[in-house]
Amino acid sequence: MKVNNTLPIDVPNPMADLVQREPYYYTNFGATYLGDSLDILKEIPDSSVNLIMTSPPYALVFKKEYGNADADEYVEWFMKFAKEFKRVLRDDGSLVIDIGGAWNKGEPTRSIYQFELLIALSKIFKVAQEFYWYNPAKLPAPAEWVNVRRIRVKDAVETVWWLSKTAYPKADNSNVLQPYSKDMYRLMENGYRAKKRPSGHNITNKFGNNNNGSIPPNLLQIGNTDSQSNYLKLCEQNGLKPHPARFPKELPTFFINFLTDINDIVLDPFCGSNVTGYAAENVKRKWIGMELVEEYLQGSEFRFPKVWKAREHINGVVEHTSSKVQS
Ligand SMILES: C[S@@+](CC[C@H](N)C(=O)[O-])C[C@H]1O[C@@H](n2cnc3c(N)ncnc32)[C@H](O)[C@@H]1O
Repeated sequence: MKVNNTLPIDVPNPMADLVQREPYYYTNFGATYLGDSLDILKEIPDSSVNLIMTSPPYALVFKKEYGNADADEYVEWFMKFAKEFKRVLRDDGSLVIDIGGAWNKGEPTRSIYQFELLIALSKIFKVAQEFYWYNPAKLPAPAEWVNVRRIRVKDAVETVWWLSKTAYPKADNSNVLQPYSKDMYRLMENGYRAKKRPSGHNITNKFGNNNNGSIPPNLLQIGNTDSQSNYLKLCEQNGLKPHPARFPKELPTFFINFLTDINDIVLDPFCGSNVTGYAAENVKRKWIGMELVEEYLQGSEFRFPKVWKAREHINGVVEHTSSKVQS
């Protein structure tokens, strides 16, 4: 990473009004903060965030066992954050949590911790809808049950819980339409004859209208096969370990487009390599990222063409200098 230290630049931190502390770095649309998000969240005013989009550290923090006792521990740990999430969210805001499954230690059975978490969250949030992220590129695991004994199949789906503060969070599925299938194009060309389906559904001839795309299902098929990205190349060139559990940018991008408008605020309290901030910046949403591990934030800088950082404290004055990432 080449850092241009000679140019103090007067570019304001777009999140300065919302988070009082000094950011780790900021861009034109957002800022990252290094530290425990439970503390940082407390500095954010009530009802100020439109969307919390995150993937919590289930496997990193609670890796010892995933039996019932640990599921309880996990839920208790998460609910402390959930209370802050609810406070900072606007009334029409959403909380989207991508949370992978886990196996119980030593036997081919599944932990149900993410469902227990959903039940606990449903006591303080509305469950707007559950989503499933299907990643066809997931590797078969655990090897003992799937590859060796062959008594389980490949686990390739993660649950994504969409929760909201009220029953009508801001949402517009026309912002996330998917391309029509060949069959649908054929049907639109030939016209659709209104009829009653055997299921009892009365399908009118409007079904054949072209509405610029099909309404997506709650099963999102996204491969997670990022092996060529600039982020990975620059981490390697600069001797930084890439984040081990990144989600693909298409996942936050879908929910950001679906649940927010331009200039709305998106927060990721467990931002890791800051895929959420990157996705938000690409579609002109403001964003806040929080992360406990400095190395992950250092690597995440490579996602942006330019970031600003506080580098010097002279007479109590913080000077921001631009750090231009060059490949
Ligand atoms: C599953 S990873 C998120 C990965 C991220 N979605 C990405 O694509 O890079 C969870 C992250 O939460 C961070 N974390 C765990 N506890 C935290 C806390 N209390 N405050 C802030 N970050 C935390 C971990 O260091 C880890 O990087």
